[in-house]
Parts: sequence; structure tokens; C-alpha cells
Amino acid sequence: MAIQFNEKTKQFHLTNGNISYVFEIMRNGQLGQLYFGQALPLEGNYSHLQDKVHYRAMLAQVYENEYRFSLEQIKQEYPSYGTTDFREGAVEVLQQDGSRLSDFCYVSHEIVPGKPKLEGLPATYVEKDEEAETLLVKLMDAKDGMELILSYTIFANFDAIARNAYFKNTGEEVVNLTKAMSLSLDLPDDDYDMVQFSGWWTRERHKKTAHLRQGIQSIGSTRGQSSHTHNPFLILKRPNTDENQGEAMGFSLVYSGNFLAQVEVDTFDTSRVMLGIHPQSFCWQLKPGQHFQTPEAVMTWSDTGLNGMSHIFHELYRSRLAHGVWRDKVCPILINNWEATYFDFDEDKLVRIASKAQEAGVELFVLDDGWFSTRRDDYHGLGDWSPNKELLPNGITGLAQRINDMGMKFGLWVELEMVNKDTPIYKEHPDWIIHVPGRKSSHGRNQYVLDFSRPEVVDYIHDDIYKVLSTADISYIKWDMNRSITECGSAGWPAAQQGEIFHRYILGVYDLYERLTSEFPHILFESCASGGGRFDPGMFYYAPQAWASDDSDACERLFIQYGTSYCYPLSFIGSHVSITPNHQVFRNTSLKFRGDVAYFGSFGYELDLGRLSPEEFEEVKEQIKFMKKYRQLIQYGTFYRIKDPFAGNEAAWMVVSPDKKQAIFGFYRMLSKSCMPFSLTKLPGLDENATYHVTIDNVEEMGSFTGAELMRAGLVTTDEACGEQKTEKKVFCGDFYSRLFLLEAK
Ligand code: DGJ
Repeated sequence: MAIQFNEKTKQFHLTNGNISYVFEIMRNGQLGQLYFGQALPLEGNYSHLQDKVHYRAMLAQVYENEYRFSLEQIKQEYPSYGTTDFREGAVEVLQQDGSRLSDFCYVSHEIVPGKPKLEGLPATYVEKDEEAETLLVKLMDAKDGMELILSYTIFANFDAIARNAYFKNTGEEVVNLTKAMSLSLDLPDDDYDMVQFSGWWTRERHKKTAHLRQGIQSIGSTRGQSSHTHNPFLILKRPNTDENQGEAMGFSLVYSGNFLAQVEVDTFDTSRVMLGIHPQSFCWQLKPGQHFQTPEAVMTWSDTGLNGMSHIFHELYRSRLAHGVWRDKVCPILINNWEATYFDFDEDKLVRIASKAQEAGVELFVLDDGWFSTRRDDYHGLGDWSPNKELLPNGITGLAQRINDMGMKFGLWVELEMVNKDTPIYKEHPDWIIHVPGRKSSHGRNQYVLDFSRPEVVDYIHDDIYKVLSTADISYIKWDMNRSITECGSAGWPAAQQGEIFHRYILGVYDLYERLTSEFPHILFESCASGGGRFDPGMFYYAPQAWASDDSDACERLFIQYGTSYCYPLSFIGSHVSITPNHQVFRNTSLKFRGDVAYFGSFGYELDLGRLSPEEFEEVKEQIKFMKKYRQLIQYGTFYRIKDPFAGNEAAWMVVSPDKKQAIFGFYRMLSKSCMPFSLTKLPGLDENATYHVTIDNVEEMGSFTGAELMRAGLVTTDEACGEQKTEKKVFCGDFYSRLFLLEAK
């Protein structure tokens, strides 16, 4: 791993032997982008990779009597609009004279071992300095005195570069940052497919692919949360790249609030990728001496296809984004009472559900919404975290005790960022909600958003919840957030700083997470936002798992979990078995199908096991046994996507242990068809020299096959149905049919 600055060529070269990132100081003092991709020799001079401007009518030129320096045609590192470049810039500074131009020129640079921390923001980290090296390039706009430090960390063990931008007003006047992206990258061509992960509540992170075209293609959120609508992640891949071969770049923002991720293809076919806080309504005031830190953006490059790109994110995020004791522990198997009871419960009912779950082998009981204050429906009680004594006569302490006495851990749901109007906090402090004074405040699910941009509000909620967490034996918290932010404004900040509220709100959320995770390090936090509305790397820094979606139907989950896996490791993906007919889509699927999908995530149940038939209950016991045996493999193995549900009627995926001695391959068919063709599925990532013994569904022996055969010819996955009745074998092979193949190297 090396970061080198060549004094002669004025080029920076970051490489870890697999990837290179090269840029230069241009003659106007700004930074020009030269290359991102597979490693190049460190000693090379790559200035010719910058397109030299030929005389082209219409290009605006920087230097007089010269036709060879137009920013419109130059690949840049952190561009700004309006001084010969007409594409969207990465930065915009509104100055006292009303102008918005910037000219950030190189001043100095520093190469430091390791990776400096980001103030108040979640970010990837290293445990030892040898794991990474960081380049900090200082630039200055001489006119307004704005200093900019661009930071680039290259990791020794991950083909990833983490970037951020830091601004400091060293001038004498107040300025406003109206745009400050975390990452900008100009690529020399536009022959890419852009893959995004988009949807809505109960259909999060569906994969959508489109070829780049001239103009801007963008995704983003202006909802105050990273959102169900778009995930802060995008992929650029070559059109012929598939899961296992070809070039792919991933761009991920470590942030939970408003974001923008866009690609602008210009008329010369260059592609400008940008990622950062959404500039809509953003305006950050910087008085002399004040600074602003952008969130971190991570970019990866792989030539082993989309699986290769995902492996980089999975490993990096699992081991160097998630932190705390839970990073290295297996996910406990949990049961959550939400779909079992909704608001209709009391202590005895909960204990009955927990005790049945305990009998089946479940390790953690989670009490969801409705345990506090006046909350018997979704109109009341948020913001008052005192237990409802009618429902829970012994409080949370007593209930937790009863659960613990059964030999189970106890977990609790909270939604700390919200209030209903009937609670003391709202009555005492009506101005503590996000609102614009004098305007109507809209509600979402009958609730209002607490103004977490104000430290006193965060302190109040902290002190309240601290009492609950410190007086009961709580091992897990599900931290929910059930609405988007509207009428964004704060009574706690002056007019000139209202453009800061969206970001300050998220900083407040991070601050509370930081405090609670340090005060209660033994607690496993799971994030949630009406399912997967804040399923982003910012959250995973604090909470190493997240409820992926409120859609718990196994067939819908194939799509959601498949899409989610492009950036996020399985251990982050909360996936539970729920009841049939399913509560979101009213579909009936077998318990086996539901289990086979839910295994590939942080596994649990979302139903009352007491309502199952004795046969089903036995099946649940077997599922739990299976998961306990293989969760290590599922959590720490290498995950491969094999068959894409977005492309057809089948889905398949596999996890392979790091030593390649064990693998679990899940094969799913949605709708049954008659007389299906013979089918072979190639299994990537195995040891071609090993011989694997294959068992289907943990019982049926299939035979032994070499890794070479499974990887090159494939495993026979012909559907059992194929138009035949298999009743004597009791094979279920109608709609929503799944098989798990277990591979063990002999
Ligand atoms: C939304 C979550 O996604 C659900 O799992 C559940 O916790 C409800 N909120 C409770 O209100």
C-alpha cells in the first residue's frame, strides 16, 4: 500500500497493489483527475490520461490567447461550476458579495498512516495504522479565504477508497456553503450501466438498471432520512459485467439523512459521479474560523463482477464500519411480538409468547411498540418512555426479569426521535418539534419529529431512555423511526441557520446513538425506519443490524434481500419468519420456504409460535437448530448472488466459508411450471480441487462432486415438479418452492 506524490509530475498516486487512484495538480492550481481502476505502476507519469483540449468552438477558456485549457473538458477532482465548467459542481459557496464562484487551489498535502476520525460522523475506521494510509490535500480559495481539505484513505486489505471534504472559513466574512459533496469523480467515458436500489415502504432496494445517457441521472432523498425510496448507493458497471466477471465500481455514502447520488454525462461522453448531502434546502453558515465536515463516501473497484464488488463492501463494512462488541458476535435468534400482537398485549400474553419461543430454542425476546405511556394505538404516547403499568404491572424491569428467568435475553422497541401531542414533553415544549413557526406542521402516522438539531432535546430524550436502560436487564434495542421530515425548521436556531436543520438533525441522532452505545456497550442495537427507510452505512456504524423491510413475505423478501446484498453483508439484514397468510401481501408460503429465505440474514421470528400446529412447531425447532449450527458460516462466509429474481422466476444465492470447506446454496422458485427443463446451476467461489458432499434440505443425500465440476458444469437443480406427482416422497413442489443444498468438503 502506498500513497506517493511525484514532485516532478505533480501527481498523487494511491495504490494498494490491486487498485490505483491518480490525480494531479493542474497548472491553474486546481486538481485534475487522471485514473481510477486496476493498479498501475507507481512510477508512471499519467498526465496524458487527461484529455488535452483541442480547439473546439464554444469552449470557454481559462487563459487568454490560448485554446487548450477549458475546465469544461478537463476531468477534475472537486469541481465547481461557472469558471469554464458548466457541469454541476461538487461545491458551491455563497459569499457576502452574492457571488457563488470558487477557485480551490493546491496549498500543501500530508500523508498520514491509518485513518483520522471524522468529527461527530460515522465512518469506516482502522484498528492499526498499517491497515490504511490517508492523503490530506489542502486547497484554498484566495478570494474568500475558504480552506478545503480533501481526504482520501486507501485500505491495504480492501479495494476501496474512503473520501470526505472538510471546509474551514479562514477569511474575514461570513460565507454559506450551499453544496458540499463528499465525493466527485470524473470518468473518461460513459459506457456504463447505472444500478440503483429503489422502491418504497415494503418494497425497499429493488434493483433497477439503466445505461448511462447524456444528461444527469440521479437518485436521492429529501425526506430527512436516507429513505425507502432510494438507497445511498449506486453502481457503475460495464454493460457486459455480470455477477462474476467484468468491471464494476460501487459508490456508497456513510450517511442517514438527505443525500444525492448522481452521474452527469457530458457532451464529450465523460461521466461525473457525485455523492453527498442533498443540496436541496441545504445552506451551512460558516463564520470566520468555523468549519464544516462532509460525511464519508466510499468507492470500490472490482474486475470480478458485481459479486466481487459486493465482497469488498461486505468485508469492509462488517469489519471496519460496524463497531463495538456485537461486531464480532453471532446474531442472536430473536422473536419479535409486533406481527403476533400489534398493540394487543399484556405482560402474561408476552410471557406466553416468549416461553413458547424459548421452548423452540429462540434466544432473545423483543417487545415491540406499545409498552409505554398511553400508547394503545399509533395516535398516542410517543415521547413518554415510562412503562404502561396497566399492561406491565412490574414495569420493563419486571418483564425483563421474567424473560431472563426463562433463560432468554430481553429486547425493547423505541422510537426516540418522535412525539405524539398527548405527551408531557410536547405539552411542556411545543416548540421542540421540527417546524417552521407560523406554518402548519404536517404529521406522519399521527406523530411529529422531535427537533434533534437542538442539543437540549437530545439531552432530554437521552436522560429519559437512560433511566429505562439502566433499570432493566435489556440486551437489545430496536430503534425505529416512522416518518419523513416535513416543514423542516427549528425554533432553536436563527434564521440564517435554518438551512442547517436537516443535517443538524442527523448529527443529533448520531450523537444520541454515540452516547447510548458507549454507555450500554453490551446492548445490541438494531435500526429500523418503518422497515428499511434508514438502511444505510451511517446507521450500521452504531447498529450492526437493521430491520430490512416491513414486508415479511418470503417471496417479496427474495427481491428485497437480493437487492440489499449488493452493498450490505447478510449479518446486517434483519430477516424473520412470519405467519401465513402473510400480513402485507396475504400470500401463503410454506414454513420451509419462509425459513429458507430468512436464514440468509440476521434470523428471527415475527409470529406467535403458540399458534402453530405441533408439526409446524417441530419444524421451527429444526430451523432454529439448523441456524444455530450454520449461523457462523452465514454471518462470516462469502456471499454470492447466483440467480437474479429481478430477471426471472427463480432466485439463488450461496454462502461459502472462508476456508471453502462448507457452503450453503439456496435455490428458490416462485411460480410452479409444468415440465420444466433440465437445469444446472454453476456455483462460484468453491475450491476446485476439493470434493464436496452435497445434502439437500439437511436430509436427502445428493452425492459427491468435485469443486471443478460444480463451478464449471454446475450442480443439477432440475425442479422436482417437472410435471410429475411426487406425493409418495411428500415433496412440496408447487408455488414458492425452495431447496437448501449443503456442501461439505470431504
Ligand atoms: C415500524 C417497524 O418497521 C415495525 O417493525 C414495527 O416496529 C412498527 N413500526 C411499530 O410501530
